[in-house]
Amino acid sequence: MLVNEIVRMNNARKWMKSNESFLPTWHAYIGYRYGLFDRLEKPMPISMLAAEDQLDEQLLNCWVETGIAVGHLKKKGKGRVKSVKSIRRQMSKFDKSSVGVLVEEMMRLHIPTLLAFDQKLSKDPHPDEDDYGHVVAETSALIETIAYPKLNSVIKDTKAKHILDLGSGYGGYLNRIAADHPDLSLTGIEINEAVVQEAARRADHKHIRFKQEDILSEIEHDERPDLIMMNNALYYFNEGERSKIFDYIYRSLVSKGSFVMITPLADSEKGLAFPAAFNSFMSGHEDMHPLPTREEIKQLADTHRFKIKNETAVVKEGGWHFFHLTKKRLKKGTA
Ligand SMILES: C[S@@+](CC[C@H](N)C(=O)[O-])C[C@H]1O[C@@H](n2cnc3c(N)ncnc32)[C@H](O)[C@@H]1O
Repeated sequence: MLVNEIVRMNNARKWMKSNESFLPTWHAYIGYRYGLFDRLEKPMPISMLAAEDQLDEQLLNCWVETGIAVGHLKKKGKGRVKSVKSIRRQMSKFDKSSVGVLVEEMMRLHIPTLLAFDQKLSKDPHPDEDDYGHVVAETSALIETIAYPKLNSVIKDTKAKHILDLGSGYGGYLNRIAADHPDLSLTGIEINEAVVQEAARRADHKHIRFKQEDILSEIEHDERPDLIMMNNALYYFNEGERSKIFDYIYRSLVSKGSFVMITPLADSEKGLAFPAAFNSFMSGHEDMHPLPTREEIKQLADTHRFKIKNETAVVKEGGWHFFHLTKKRLKKGTA
């Protein structure tokens, strides 16, 4: 079983990595369409480019980070960015030697046709095309194999008894915990009804409860958790909501409680194409938000009186990190 899981995880990493080769084409296409390589012939701050060309600054920043990772753009001093000469020539709107139009044809005509293939092939297309709940619950579970041992050592060290999983998806982490620690009380909170049903179906252990609730709705607890986890879910929430969630977690946990979070970071390791592009997907999706940066997590922890006890990389090339936060002790006389 364990060997199969490791093989599956390695295959997942291989396929994730294989998608990286698409990123230079995507990046070149956006740069060509908006004349961004020409605009960045001379170093320029991205905020200025966004303002002058009326572009969404957040998405433009994601495009820039991906461009730096794939070698199309270079950072210059004072927060400015410049395009690399060879890509500027090839993807210029004006240069006669530009071949941008070929990339445009691929990206606007042929790639969308390939992507529509799955719907066209069958006379009875797949239902629920807008509901990606099952897909994301399934793929994020792939990281479990690597991340679970870290989570398990926190459980053992802290002797946690009541564990709450926010945005629990299919409950893969809870199932693993239940198998290793049959006496713990385990609750999963998940907003998507179909995902909750599937999680309940997959639960091999009767002492896991799944509740269909919104993390933001101040869920009440029968017993206060001593460990709360929230894995691969921060990017569903905007800045204000993230702060609300940290506050809720702080108030819910017992005084020596722990908060565990497995999340991709926007600023994981510099120059990695996949995290840069992952951030572009997340920022571009409706109802999704940019990945957190390490600095943002530090600030959220600080503001909400958590101490970062441990941070480790889980899947380096994808930018996933494991955080273990503990509640700071309040000084006597403080609220
Ligand atoms: C990417 S999945 C991660 C699942 C699991 N934690 C893991 O790491 O494998 C994120 C899950 O959070 C759920 N979710 C998103 N917003 C939520 C909310 N406001 N309240 C509860 N669950 C939410 C999604 O439906 C999804 O199943």
